[in-house]
Order: sequence, then structure tokens, then C-alpha cells
Amino acid sequence: MNKITAAITAVGGYVPNFVMTNKMLEDMVDTNDEWITTRTGIKERRVLKEDEGEGTSYLGIKAAENLINKKGLNPEEIDLVLVATATPDMFVASTAAFVASEIGAVNAFSYDLHAACSSFLYGMSTAAAYIEAGRYKKVLLIGADKMSSIIDYTDRTTCIIFGDGAGAVLFEPNTEGLGLQDEYLRSDGVGRNYLKMDAGGSLLPASVETVQNRQHFIYQDGRSVFKFAVSNMADAAAQIMQRNNLEDNDVAWLVPHQANKRIIDATANRMGLDNSKVMMNIQNYGNTTSATLPLLLHDYESQLKKGDNLVFAAFGGGFTWGANYLKWAY
Ligand code: UT7
Repeated sequence: MNKITAAITAVGGYVPNFVMTNKMLEDMVDTNDEWITTRTGIKERRVLKEDEGEGTSYLGIKAAENLINKKGLNPEEIDLVLVATATPDMFVASTAAFVASEIGAVNAFSYDLHAACSSFLYGMSTAAAYIEAGRYKKVLLIGADKMSSIIDYTDRTTCIIFGDGAGAVLFEPNTEGLGLQDEYLRSDGVGRNYLKMDAGGSLLPASVETVQNRQHFIYQDGRSVFKFAVSNMADAAAQIMQRNNLEDNDVAWLVPHQANKRIIDATANRMGLDNSKVMMNIQNYGNTTSATLPLLLHDYESQLKKGDNLVFAAFGGGFTWGANYLKWAY
């Protein structure tokens, strides 16, 4: 019998309706379109407003429903729902459990997976491991984040970067050797000094003081994170190519986390890849944290061909980072 690999067999995506442009941010903080565009590559991002829906689950449900409808999938056949997110609806109650119920995945178990901007990358490894082991046949992996819920819109160093969105992929067994081939995943706890939300967790529970000190918003030492991200994301992508004897010509697409166009360019450079092979939608959505990778697949799905070699790469809070090598299956 052929070895079982874990292939992506369907993709879905969703971004909220409200478009927040660089121009709008100019009226909110001391910034300008030119600075944001040249330093990050971002032109606009989406924000989930209350009149449309609430919570990360709303975004995840929409992305999952998009996948289910496109694929014609019976949600009762889904075995496991993973929600990769840094902004769960609430602590303690699983966001994934709610999403699974709402989409009709009544026979699935479900849980959240949190590794900041690398949540989806790590989630691919988790989903694939269940499939490769023969334990489950249909694993739905959703990357969803409502970053606007933890952004301080008076802080120009973070509010220009992040946006809301969600993407979903279905992993199924494959016997043609397609799907996830290899992974190179890393973490380093030094990162929690540079990218974090100070309060609201067990270390510093919510209090009047933490609210007054604006400690429930994301904080980033951008310059330090940038340095770590540039070297580690590029290094992980190079490692995965080397380990699998991939030359630049063998790689059809780089699927990079959308944190900063300059980080993406540096990674592509290190891999020797032409711009035409680099998936990019940061200009439209900014950094949607766990949703960047599946949203890229959603936007580029029509250009993908069976057998294409894809290299995924991400870097995020923690620090967490890595690269996955996957063969496209349809
Ligand atoms: O996804 C999770 C991982 N996150 C990342 O990978 C993000 C990594 N970091 C970055 O992408 C970049 O560091 C930023 C986009 C956050 C910032 O870009 P930078 O080129 O590193 O800028 P900087 O922080 O070094 O600041 C340069 C200047 C500073 O002014 P001075 O000190 O040179 O006078 C800032 O005060 O730009 C100023 N600045 C701004 N100016 C206009 C900072 N933010 C803004 C702003 N608009 N929004």
C-alpha cells in the first residue's frame, strides 16, 4: 500500500466588508500613505465592524462556509476542526467548538491552536500528522483573527499593520505522494519581550490599572521583531529547500506570512525566487496574523496546478517561525 500523505483538497476565505485605507489612518494617527506603503507594502486592511458580525468565530465560520459550499462538502463528514488564532472569542471557551457547531460539523471534535502569526503554519503540521497516522480522514484547519479587537488605534506603530480576516483549508489523505512533504518549525521564548499583549492573561490579569495603562492592546518593538523575522523566515525557507534538494526552479510558489513586504522580499531573495513566484496580498489586507497563509491560497487558488511545489514560511510572536514544503494536490 502507498504511504498516506496529507493533502489540501479545498480552500475557503473571508474578509470583512469594511475597508480601512491608509488615508483613513492619516486622520487617526500621525502617519501617511507614503510611509506605510514604502515601509510595509500595505495600502488597506479590513476591519470587522459590529454591524456586520462579532468575534473571530464570525470570520472563521464565514471562511469555513465558503470552503464547504465550493467543495460541496457535507460538514457531518468532518472529523476535526482546528482554529488557529491569536484572538479567540474568549478565554476558556473554545472558539473552535463554537465554529464547528455553527458550520454543522456535528461529528467533529475541535480545538484552538495558538502560536501567534505562525498558528496556521504549525496547524498544517498538526492537521497533517492526524491524517498521516490514519486517525482521521477530514481535518478542517481554519486560520482566523480579529486583530482589530487588540489594536490601539492611537498607536501608529501597530495600527497601520494589522487587519481582520480568515481562511480555511481541508486536509485529506492522499496516496499519490501529494500534500505536506516536510516541515522546519522553530520557537524562541526571547520573543515575548518584543511582541506581546501584556495584560489579560494569567501573568497580569485584567484590572482597572491594566485598562488605564492600555495593556490590553498589542505591543511591538517593530525594529527588533523585523530583524529576527528577516533572518529567521528566510533561513527557514532556505533550510527546507536545502533539505529537500529544491532549486529555485523547482519551487512554483512561495506562500509567505504577510507581515511586511520587505520581509517577504528578503525571503524570496534568499530562495533565489523571482517576484512572479511570490504570493502577495498584503496590499489589500495587511497582516491578518493566522489568516495570511490560507487567504493567499484562497486568492491564488485558480493559478495553482496539481504537483506544484509550494514553500510556506512564517514568523510571529513568541517567537515562533518556520517553513513547510507542500505539493499541491488539485
Ligand atoms: O507578524 C508578526 C511579526 N511582525 C513583524 O514581522 C513586523 C516586523 N516589523 C516591521 O514590519 C517594521 O519594523 C515596522 C513596519 C513595524 C516599522 O518599520 P521600520 O522601518 O522598522 O520603522 P522604525 O520602527 O525603525 O521607525 C522608523 C521611523 C521612526 O522615526 P525616527 O525615530 O526615525 O524619527 C518612527 O517613529 O518611522 C517612525 N514611524 C512612523 N512614521 C510614520 C513609526 N511608525 C510610523 C508610522 N508612520 N506609522
